[in-house]
Amino acid sequence: MRTPLVAANWKMHMPVAPAVKLVGEMKAALRDLRGVEVVICPPATALAAVGQALAGTPYLLGGQTMHWEPQGAYTGEVSAPMLVDVGCRAVLLGHSERRLYFGETDEAVGRKVRAAFAHGLVPIVCVGESLEERQAGSADGVIARQVRAAVQGVAPQEFPRLVIAYEPVWAIGTGQTATGTEANRVAGLIRRLLADSGAAGAAEIRILYGGSVKPDNIREFLEQPEIDGALVGGASLDARAFAAIVRAAAEAGR
Ligand code: 13P
Repeated sequence: MRTPLVAANWKMHMPVAPAVKLVGEMKAALRDLRGVEVVICPPATALAAVGQALAGTPYLLGGQTMHWEPQGAYTGEVSAPMLVDVGCRAVLLGHSERRLYFGETDEAVGRKVRAAFAHGLVPIVCVGESLEERQAGSADGVIARQVRAAVQGVAPQEFPRLVIAYEPVWAIGTGQTATGTEANRVAGLIRRLLADSGAAGAAEIRILYGGSVKPDNIREFLEQPEIDGALVGGASLDARAFAAIVRAAAEAGR
């Protein structure tokens, strides 16, 4: 049985003071709910403060991206040891916004995944096709390419800690979602690709759905056998909406 996981991607929102306030509201709304893993990914400037605000709760702190090198002349970047230093236990990697606006390649995502494992961080790897790719019938091929590159060189014993988020690009921030059935089909494809890539424990890997997840549509995804939770953008900026999603995931895991 895979423990459900819900991750909050705050993207480039939340200066320190509102970030800490939001964590306080979330803690009150969730009251250390068990049976679900929760990862909060604030912007880099709020990581330390949010980490302190999460101390003593079961909720984990995560970065939104990182460099693959541990340190060096890479202006503007943060490294895996730096994320660990401020209390992160996980990191989002290969988000479509990183790929689209910052030229992050499949190969770079693979390097980052290996670096995350090397430093004890749980990589939450985002994959997903664009609208053009879906309309051209190449969605499965794009996802296969992204998944294979992301896990290249990952040691078999590390696979069970890996998390993959299927986020169709056309569903992000648009209010449009994949159907539960289609998201489940793609999650199943991802699990088969992971098994083919050497993950003996592919059945243990959590696969999340992301893209316009809200309290009123989360159940459609959670009831799918291959989907183990959600990566939430906009709705994670609202404590009550996010808490409702987390609670639904905890119930689905029972
Ligand atoms: P929305 O939930 O705002 O569509 O964002 C999804 C996302 O990109 C999470 O990483």
